[in-house]
Amino acid sequence: MSISNSQVDRGKIGKTPALTNRSDEAFTDFMSDARNFLLHAQWKNMSERGNAILAEKGVVPEATKEGVAKARAAIAEDTYVNTFLRVKRSAQEAYKNRIVGSYLEREAEYLRRLDDAEKRGPGTLTYDKNFIYPEYAMVDIHLQPKGYAGHPLAGMFYDYGTSIFYGGANSEDALHMRIAKETPLPLDGKVTRILEIGCGIGQLACELKRLYPAAEVHATDISAPMVRYGHWRATEQKSEVHFAQMPCEDLDFPDKSFDMVVSHILFHEIPLPVIDRALAEIWRVLRPGGTYTMWDFASTPPGQAPDRGLIGLMDTADNGEPYASAFVSCNIEGRLEKQGFTLRSRVPGNSPMGSRVCDKPA
Ligand SMILES: C[S@@+](CC[C@H](N)C(=O)[O-])C[C@H]1O[C@@H](n2cnc3c(N)ncnc32)[C@H](O)[C@@H]1O
Repeated sequence: MSISNSQVDRGKIGKTPALTNRSDEAFTDFMSDARNFLLHAQWKNMSERGNAILAEKGVVPEATKEGVAKARAAIAEDTYVNTFLRVKRSAQEAYKNRIVGSYLEREAEYLRRLDDAEKRGPGTLTYDKNFIYPEYAMVDIHLQPKGYAGHPLAGMFYDYGTSIFYGGANSEDALHMRIAKETPLPLDGKVTRILEIGCGIGQLACELKRLYPAAEVHATDISAPMVRYGHWRATEQKSEVHFAQMPCEDLDFPDKSFDMVVSHILFHEIPLPVIDRALAEIWRVLRPGGTYTMWDFASTPPGQAPDRGLIGLMDTADNGEPYASAFVSCNIEGRLEKQGFTLRSRVPGNSPMGSRVCDKPA
């Protein structure tokens, strides 16, 4: 009797379930290395080259639909920058499709494991099977049909997909560990309850729990597939994190109930009116003297060129990120201050380098 690959459990790579076939893994490993060589290593050169072409043609990179069209027209004749952008987009489509196809070969088994994990701790999981997603959360973000909520295995796709996207740099959640370490405590040093919003698959929340084992850590996300997989992943690590499906603009926690709130690459993925509602919610659930840290893209006041330049502009345009342009031009620091926060520090640049540390006055 022959056993097909889809019947064989190939175990895990670090904290992530392995793909179904060795050939899928070889392909995605190749894509990871190719992206490091063709994209990451060329990023600075291509950025400088693209920005120089725009400057020469008098085009200011504006994060609007018209701005993107103008920038595209300006670089149309440049083979290097265009090839770079083409490779970037096609590579993403190729590895994403391979990962999805590979996991779907064992879909029934993974759905069973997600169900089984719901009965296990040490943490908890809450979600609503009848949750009605707002329209903005059902767009094909990052080229995934219906975004993070479009498939019950979306969390697995994200886990493997981002391991390729980060080109190996997030192995064993190393980037999330670094972010956890660089997320500062409230000024009085007291931390008993921590909340991560837009937690995805809970990588940062689990690292925060590792750093502050005595603290109660909550991880929330609008997508049920993401928190379900996050819970499964956390149970495998024996990490006591409490996952819940919850929009960040409507937090189901009492006023002043957290010492720290943190988000990582959440806000560039939601529309501006929702951002403002979420900032009000963060303010409400933080205690006086509590601290919110936002890790995300750099954002500048409207009318100023975005810090990210041509390649950053095209990255969001080609990567199915419909709200990122508005975010990078929204002066997020101004919005945080308007909400009442005191900005302790701002590190410009893209995550994991970009953070705003915001204190709620005591
Ligand atoms: C780019 S992922 C980041 C996930 C995670 N923080 C990380 O570091 O990998 C953005 C996450 O935000 C979630 N999200 C989008 N809109 C949201 C909302 N209104 N409230 C809470 N989470 C939301 C998505 O479901 C997704 O998991």
